[in-house]
Amino acid sequence: MEVMCVLSSVVFLVLIQLVVCKNETINCQVNTFQTKQNFNLKQYLGTWYEMKWLVPFDVPVADRYLDYRHNYTMNTDNQVLVSITARNSSKHCLYFNAYLNLTATPGKMVLSLQPDGGGDTYTYWVIDTDYVNYALTYACGEMLPNGTCGKVRSWIWSRKTSISQTLLNSTEVLLNGLCVDASSLITTSHVEDACSKQNDDAVITTSSCWCLIIPIVVYLSIFHLI
Ligand SMILES: *[C@@H]1O[C@H](CO)[C@@H](O)[C@H](O)[C@H]1NC(C)=O
Ligand SMILES: *[C@@H]1O[C@H](CO)[C@@H](O)[C@H](O)[C@H]1NC(C)=O
Ligand SMILES: *[C@@H]1O[C@H](CO)[C@@H](O)[C@H](O)[C@H]1NC(C)=O
Ligand SMILES: *[C@@H]1O[C@H](CO)[C@@H](O)[C@H](O)[C@H]1NC(C)=O
Ligand SMILES: *[C@@H]1O[C@H](CO)[C@@H](O)[C@H](O)[C@H]1NC(C)=O
Ligand SMILES: *[C@@H]1O[C@H](CO)[C@@H](O)[C@H](O)[C@H]1NC(C)=O
Repeated sequence: MEVMCVLSSVVFLVLIQLVVCKNETINCQVNTFQTKQNFNLKQYLGTWYEMKWLVPFDVPVADRYLDYRHNYTMNTDNQVLVSITARNSSKHCLYFNAYLNLTATPGKMVLSLQPDGGGDTYTYWVIDTDYVNYALTYACGEMLPNGTCGKVRSWIWSRKTSISQTLLNSTEVLLNGLCVDASSLITTSHVEDACSKQNDDAVITTSSCWCLIIPIVVYLSIFHLI
């Protein structure tokens, strides 16, 4: 009798454990999260516009960037350079640089910001992408003792400055699978064309033209006066 009682208690406890683990622990275990199968870095390169983002701290509205964009290129040393452009809330163009460092697992990378961008380093996992429309990336900044993530960063990217509701819905499903509440992501505003150093340089070129033209005009008028 006693043996039966102990046995059935053990079976009961194991069953409970299985149900609880299956629901709450295993599902949210960071090391079970899948990244994009056969991730193809070359196809991933190029420009991605940030649609939505999540960081593990509060960013006041006045400090949120507009027109935020990453441009990934590979240099001859096989390093992936990231040029980041954004506008701050007073519409000033900002430029930051980073590296996207590879690891042994394709799709699991490390974004390493240069000092101009704050110097932060965080994991950058491509959870899903179709390369031509959208991408979902995820980073766990702190793994808790129970294997769940304490500090999540996540981004939804688009090749354009907008994204379809259908794609947003499918990223929501994926985010749920990463134990991230999709409604906690903040939407990025895209209000103007992305900042471009070339355009800024063009402005400088135009003004340097004026710097030449003005002395010439002054010279000519002096010449005429003489
Ligand atoms: C396990 O998850 C299912 C579906 O997500 C839910 O209906 C059920 O209540 C959960 N069970 C426990 C023990 O949390
Ligand atoms: C994991 O640990 C964190 C922090 O202690 C806790 O908030 C969370 O509920 C735990 N999750 C599970 C599934 O045990
Ligand atoms: C991305 O960077 C590459 C290399 O610097 C450049 O040729 C390309 O024009 C950039 N794309 C955009 C949209 O700025
Ligand atoms: C935006 O950037 C410009 C130039 O760096 C700076 O002068 C301005 O204070 C910034 N505005 C905000 C709201 O951060
Ligand atoms: C990423 O790669 C760059 C260039 O190779 C290197 O300078 C940097 O230290 C690397 N960052 C990390 C976190 O590995
Ligand atoms: C997206 O999801 C919402 C809410 O679940 C639903 O009402 C809407 O029809 C979906 N839209 C598309 C285009 O799938």
